[in-house]
Amino acid sequence: MIKGGNRNTAKLLMERSVPDRVGSVLPALDVPEQPLPDRALLRDDLALPEVSEPEVVQYFTGLSQLNYSIDTHFYPLGSCTMKYNPKINDEVAFWPGFAGIHPLQPPELAQGALELLWRLQGFLQEITGMAGVSLATLAGAHGELAGVLMIRACHLARGDTARRKMAIPDSAHGTNPASAAMAGFEVVTLPSDKAGNVDLAALRQLAGPDLAGVMITLPSTLGLFDTHIVEVCRIVHQAGGLVYGDGANMNALLGRVKLGDLGFDVAHLNLHKTFSTPHGGGGPGAGPVCCVESLLPYLAAPVVARGGDGPDYTYRLMTPEASIGKVSAFHGNFGVLVRAYTYIRTLGEAGIRSISANAVLNANYILQALKDTYHLPYDRRCMHEVVFSADWQKARGVSGLEIAKRLLDYGFYAPTMYFPLIVPEALMIEPTESETRETLDAFIQALRDIDREITDNPDLVRQAPHSTPVTRLDEARAARQPNLRWRRERSGSEYP
Ligand SMILES: Cc1ncc(COP(=O)(O)O)c(C=O)c1O
Repeated sequence: MIKGGNRNTAKLLMERSVPDRVGSVLPALDVPEQPLPDRALLRDDLALPEVSEPEVVQYFTGLSQLNYSIDTHFYPLGSCTMKYNPKINDEVAFWPGFAGIHPLQPPELAQGALELLWRLQGFLQEITGMAGVSLATLAGAHGELAGVLMIRACHLARGDTARRKMAIPDSAHGTNPASAAMAGFEVVTLPSDKAGNVDLAALRQLAGPDLAGVMITLPSTLGLFDTHIVEVCRIVHQAGGLVYGDGANMNALLGRVKLGDLGFDVAHLNLHKTFSTPHGGGGPGAGPVCCVESLLPYLAAPVVARGGDGPDYTYRLMTPEASIGKVSAFHGNFGVLVRAYTYIRTLGEAGIRSISANAVLNANYILQALKDTYHLPYDRRCMHEVVFSADWQKARGVSGLEIAKRLLDYGFYAPTMYFPLIVPEALMIEPTESETRETLDAFIQALRDIDREITDNPDLVRQAPHSTPVTRLDEARAARQPNLRWRRERSGSEYP
């Protein structure tokens, strides 16, 4: 089962260098020869690998295959919705009319692109049950910031200056409190109750004239649908506050539940999770903000509007009357928006509904299969992801981190670990809708096998991974001080 390292990358290119081996032959000189510049400008010690063309191709192709990716591996990274992205979405985004358009092109020459944005706004309105959408935000966290700035602008416009508190559940994604703090709110933590829902008694205590609103993720990062959600919205509204919805987990609800119908006032979606953009490595993304009628004037600019009579409609960019302003250059991440539009159009209503059906089914399949092997802290039906705790394994001397590392040896990307923070030794598994039952079965078997290894040979798990090109790293240092330069081995006396 355990795969060996890739022999084409085991040796660095410089280490394969053989004097006078050539990889390419330059064409004969067909211009007059020129003297070389001053010798002082030339370097004698420039180390270049002397290798053949196949060695170069094999080396770089090997490097390109070292990473885990959605196109090569099952990627159950909870809270990230790492699902397969149909290639047609990329293909359409690369069409010259979309890929080559300039953001400063005058609207009369960009009517097709504006129409696509207008139609996408409409689809997202329909999906969320909201009255309007701004596509200008470039990530989920960016959508959160724009959304809470809208809440702030709305309270200030009403002269309600005392509302400074934003309540956020203890299970929330870290970006929620960060966005609220950036918008100038005082963040107050809402505890979860025993079932993983918002603790209503704690919310009632907070609901007063200084409460600006709550930020609720639905389903929560525990992978649970908060069964109190309508009551949560009612309590907050009754106290004069507004409800922000983190809709980044919309994969679980598509075509079934509309955030607007539940009582949310403003919400963002993560197009790069739910609506098919390759996601990872920090971008690109899009976090459109959707809102109810009363918040439309505050939406981030621009919003695409349609005028004229059919079939001669015209599309234009407009700034809502009390807009929080521009939050990004131009009109958002256009390529991501084209992918989302294509994804929605190719799937249609029935396809969209089947996303949530299969995402939830797959997560519950894993939940049922593993709940006797791994501790399930919230023992109820989950939504698109399931959060286990590895505390039973920890009691036998192996941590959640080590289990996640061992999964790499089995050919699976590791689940999210140690998040949400309220679950000790959390292993957060999001299978998404795009994997087959055979893949899920193989993953379940791997986690059972690892549990057995913890009894039979715990060091095997503690020292994992064994088959990856590099094993245990100082991960913080690898990210902050990556060592990307090859240096010739020098003897001790050569070092300065
Ligand atoms: C629940 C939730 N909220 C917010 C975010 C933030 O989104 P982004 O990483 O695009 O800023 C994420 C990211 O995956 C998320 O899972």
